Amino acid sequence: MERLQKVIARAGIASRRKSEELIKEGRVKVNGKVVTELGMKVSPSDKVEVNEIQIEKEEPVYFLLYKPRGVISSVNDDKGRKVVTDFFSQFKERIFPVGRLDYDTSGLLLLTNDGEFANLLMHPKNEIDKVYVAKTKGIPLRENLRKLEKGIRLEDGKTAPAKVKLLSADKKKQTAIVEIAIHEGRNRQVRRMFEAIGNEVLKLKRERYGFLTLNGLKAGEARELTPHEVKQLRALAMDVSKKNS
Ligand code: URA
Repeated sequence: MERLQKVIARAGIASRRKSEELIKEGRVKVNGKVVTELGMKVSPSDKVEVNEIQIEKEEPVYFLLYKPRGVISSVNDDKGRKVVTDFFSQFKERIFPVGRLDYDTSGLLLLTNDGEFANLLMHPKNEIDKVYVAKTKGIPLRENLRKLEKGIRLEDGKTAPAKVKLLSADKKKQTAIVEIAIHEGRNRQVRRMFEAIGNEVLKLKRERYGFLTLNGLKAGEARELTPHEVKQLRALAMDVSKKNS
């Protein structure tokens, strides 16, 4: 289910704000009835008309992007910085990122125009395992990595258990490479977890999202997900949510 104004905007009829105006002006019908209320949610099976013309629904599309560092996980940026949808300018669909990676984080990011799919994957209950590789300042102590594994208190609460592996340590440079798998998606979570044990993250990359990897892609490259992968992601999200309920 998605908000009516979003569905109208997604169909390419008007901006989100203009779509809200169209609704308030009584120019939008859902299943034959005029709707003037803004909060209404509609499903893909609902018939939406604007000025008596049924809106064309976009075919859903699903992409996997290897996001480079220095790109915003958004559809536009008021400061004019590069955004992830710039990599898809040849497509007419209005795609958006599923969740976000920080400006300085590289790695696997999904994008779609399918709001229901995005909501399913991003719902806190359905959080799928995501694997990050972090380069840290200083070599984290084993007992501190254990703390990350068990869950560590951050200002927005204790984190769920994580899987943590020290991949390598450079004693001379006093840096380490650590793999960490988490399923929550809080803001700057991995960076804050390492900060909490006194090891600043110098570089961060998301290498996996559930069963998806960056294999075959270079930074800045993207590929479409196969229909089977989309199905598998849906199934995985529902599976995880069943386990969590
Ligand atoms: N955790 C972070 O700290 N940053 C990201 O971009 C993703 C997870």
